[in-house]
Amino acid sequence: MTDLAKLPAVDPDIPNAARMYDYHLGGSHNFAADRAAADRTRAVMPWIVDAVRANRRFLARAVRYCQSEGVHQFLDLGSGIPTVGNVHEFARATDAGARVAYVDNEPVTVASSAALLEGDPQSTITAADLRDPDAVFARRECATCSTSRSRSPCSPSRCCISSPTTPTRWR
Ligand SMILES: C[S@@+](CC[C@H](N)C(=O)[O-])C[C@H]1O[C@@H](n2cnc3c(N)ncnc32)[C@H](O)[C@@H]1O
Repeated sequence: MTDLAKLPAVDPDIPNAARMYDYHLGGSHNFAADRAAADRTRAVMPWIVDAVRANRRFLARAVRYCQSEGVHQFLDLGSGIPTVGNVHEFARATDAGARVAYVDNEPVTVASSAALLEGDPQSTITAADLRDPDAVFARRECATCSTSRSRSPCSPSRCCISSPTTPTRWR
């Protein structure tokens, strides 16, 4: 688990992309500054709410499909704040023992995620850059998620951000 003491304090007056995303999803993990910035986004991109909710429905389908293939452990790269129907909620709906390792490189998002996941022994949040797979797997919680044989056979699902900078190793 990421060392919380080293993470920056969350400043509620500075909009954060992950909390804006949470607001678009209808979540409660956002502040007035996030909502104001998100509303400005909606003014120029009115389709944004439908888009983020469609993305979340896709995530649910992807998790269900992975589970139907026997996956019990998930590595979520670029996870954002795991709220409003995220991987651990979808996965646990049908598999109480499902484990999720979230990874994000945005410090405030990591801090918010850590607060939200506190007390959940089956979910972790790691501050790491998904463009560096070796650094991700150097973290015990991510390496354990990918190699544990405790629930063998299993393998992680990788919910990647597709971008030109995504290393081919993830694909
Ligand atoms: C739009 S949110 C996606 C949230 C969630 N995965 C979903 O699909 O609903 C994108 C997240 O990716 C994170 N991100 C962007 N680049 C990243 C990188 N290089 N390494 C790790 N996380 C990254 C951002 O900080 C942000 O929280």
